[in-house]
Amino acid sequence: MDKIRIAIDGPSGSGKSTLAKKLAKALSLVYVDTGALYRSVGLYAMRAGADPKSAAQVTALLDDINLELVYTDAGQRVILCGEDVSDLIRTNEISMYASSVSAIPAVRRFLLEIQKKMAANGNVVMDGRDIGTVIMPDADVKLFLESNTKARAHRRYLELLEKGHNYSEEEIYKDIVKRDENDSNREIAPAIPADDAIFLDNSELDPDQTLEAAMDIIKEKLKRKK
Ligand code: DC
Repeated sequence: MDKIRIAIDGPSGSGKSTLAKKLAKALSLVYVDTGALYRSVGLYAMRAGADPKSAAQVTALLDDINLELVYTDAGQRVILCGEDVSDLIRTNEISMYASSVSAIPAVRRFLLEIQKKMAANGNVVMDGRDIGTVIMPDADVKLFLESNTKARAHRRYLELLEKGHNYSEEEIYKDIVKRDENDSNREIAPAIPADDAIFLDNSELDPDQTLEAAMDIIKEKLKRKK
């Protein structure tokens, strides 16, 4: 069979990574989490004391940033200048830093090549905000995952709690609204669905039901491609 390429876009907390991981397992694909790249640049900016909204300050750091994606049995690991930061980048603070630096054109250009390279390998499921529009405009299937803000905030709350972070649900809700606004209104590669994306609203679905709905869409799409 030809190599499959699946793009999953959608707002924060819509369950993209949960779905992508399950799809990767079900279809033997490599899961590429592109948000981890933006989060790593965000972490670097935070450590350097840079204002994440300042294009000049963040752009000046890019030459010193070395990023690698490594695939192990435990999934994707992201290596920032030799350090595995995969777990460190999963905080609410870094989410906000990532969202800010992701609006800077030089950052997006910087991360383009590594993502295009992963896309070119094929047999991938990639998630992010501009996968269907910029990174894999010719993906076999483009899903745009949605859920209402309350459901997304609740999921993030549980996810962070499980990782030992104690944020209030209200705080997370506010941050999600702010991130949605940043991510979808930025000038460059805004988080909007591709024209040929298929919408999947999972506000009322659990992860397995979401997987089932996505698999139905994918099978149908691939059948029509043949
Ligand atoms: O998917 P995530 O929450 O890990 O992403 C963190 C931030 O990175 C998100 O707020 C927007 C940005 N991002 C992006 O602009 N483009 C992508 N392809 C992935 C993430």
